[in-house]
Amino acid sequence: MPCSERTQVAIIGAGPAGLLLGHLLHRQGIDTVIVEARSREYVEARIRAGILEQGTREVLAEAGLGDRMEREGLLHGGIHLRFDGRNHHIPMSELTGGRQVTVYGQTEVVKDLVLARIESGAPLRFECADVRVHGLDADEPVVRYVLDGEERELRCELVAGCDGFHGVCRPSIPAGVLSIFERVYPYAWLGILADVAPSTDELIYARHERGFALHSMRSPSISRLYVQVDPGDDVGHWPDERVWEELHLRLACEGFALEEGPVLEKSITPMRSFVASPMRYRSLLLAGDAAHIVPPTGAKGLNLAVADVTVLALALASYFADGSATGLDEYSDRCLARVWRAQHFSWWMTTMLHPDPSDDAYGGELARAQLEYVCRSEAAATSLAENYVGLALEWSPQPAAPLTRSARG
Ligand code: FAD
Ligand code: DHB
Repeated sequence: MPCSERTQVAIIGAGPAGLLLGHLLHRQGIDTVIVEARSREYVEARIRAGILEQGTREVLAEAGLGDRMEREGLLHGGIHLRFDGRNHHIPMSELTGGRQVTVYGQTEVVKDLVLARIESGAPLRFECADVRVHGLDADEPVVRYVLDGEERELRCELVAGCDGFHGVCRPSIPAGVLSIFERVYPYAWLGILADVAPSTDELIYARHERGFALHSMRSPSISRLYVQVDPGDDVGHWPDERVWEELHLRLACEGFALEEGPVLEKSITPMRSFVASPMRYRSLLLAGDAAHIVPPTGAKGLNLAVADVTVLALALASYFADGSATGLDEYSDRCLARVWRAQHFSWWMTTMLHPDPSDDAYGGELARAQLEYVCRSEAAATSLAENYVGLALEWSPQPAAPLTRSARG
């Protein structure tokens, strides 16, 4: 007999989505168990996102998770767009009524969330092997896994699938239920973390004929930089000197000097857009990368995960308080409205800023025309800015307004 226990919501995955959901539900008095495949050290050290939308910062602060973020996070009110050797500043804050993003690494968000979970005393199980979800069709969900060599069973009312793009929850949904929307890009990002003060005040997104480059940061003394590479490329082909050489070439601009420093980490990330719809199958609710991913150029992935679980926590609170299923029934549509807006923005930023090696000169000129437009037109810059700093958290489907006679022409 496996060791068996019960909870209200079984959460699979201790990334930002699963940990934040667990935290929000704990504050509502809802029991959860978080089951994570990797170790605490691995989860806390996995270098990924760095940019929090204003709404994400507010959610974390309101949930009592903001102390270190407010102290150590860097507030940015603009970005630089660089192409043809020229730099253009997009004053995002001015264009959006004062909204800003926060530079605060996903590693730090995850550390804060893990600490809060441990302090709460609620269960968080690392290093769970062979995690499986059963009983969805019978509406008697049970999560089985192996911990310290022992088979375990977790019975629950609902399962939150927060196990990322390669997790087990989405594949547990029977074939034919989900519609999949997908685009794979013909390039990838090679990222480095460098022990050197950033050479810029705000992030630089650069389009260059040799490929895209991004200068980001983690703190006043740590830089994070990316270069576009071939998706089949290997970090072994990229010694530190080659990475710096490309960064110098691609970020070059009058008056700009890139400081080099020791490389602390280096990895390659493929680029993909993906949406699975709907985000629910019976008692299984998908959230974050388990349901959708975006290419990193728009800095939206982590922020979408936070937006999903904010909607989900409210729906679950009302379900457990008075049995109302309305929030759960609306969950997928409400999240997907925002997800598709972010999908478009991420695709748009990505295709505007990356030369596509398989495209012809016409495609390149279109991207350049779009960049010129964003840099010259306040309307176009405002559109970029409001998407980048993040649309209101409640970005729900709007009923289509009937066209007036004059609008019809
Ligand atoms: P994940 O972080 O993937 O967490 C899923 C968790 O589930 C993991 O801990 C995993 O170990 C666990 N798991 C997987 N399988 C199982 C299983 N079978 N059983 C149990 N547990 C399992 N987003 C932004 O918003 N801004 C950015 O600036 C940004 N930059 C990025 C840069 C890079 C280089 C990359 C790679 C991503 C970036 N993102 C960015 C995207 C962001 O990192 C993700 O969208 C975010 O991690 C999603 O969180 P999640 O909790 O849904 O999934
Ligand atoms: C970072 C990552 C992004 O995808 C992005 O658009 C901006 C910054 C980062 O890792 O710092």
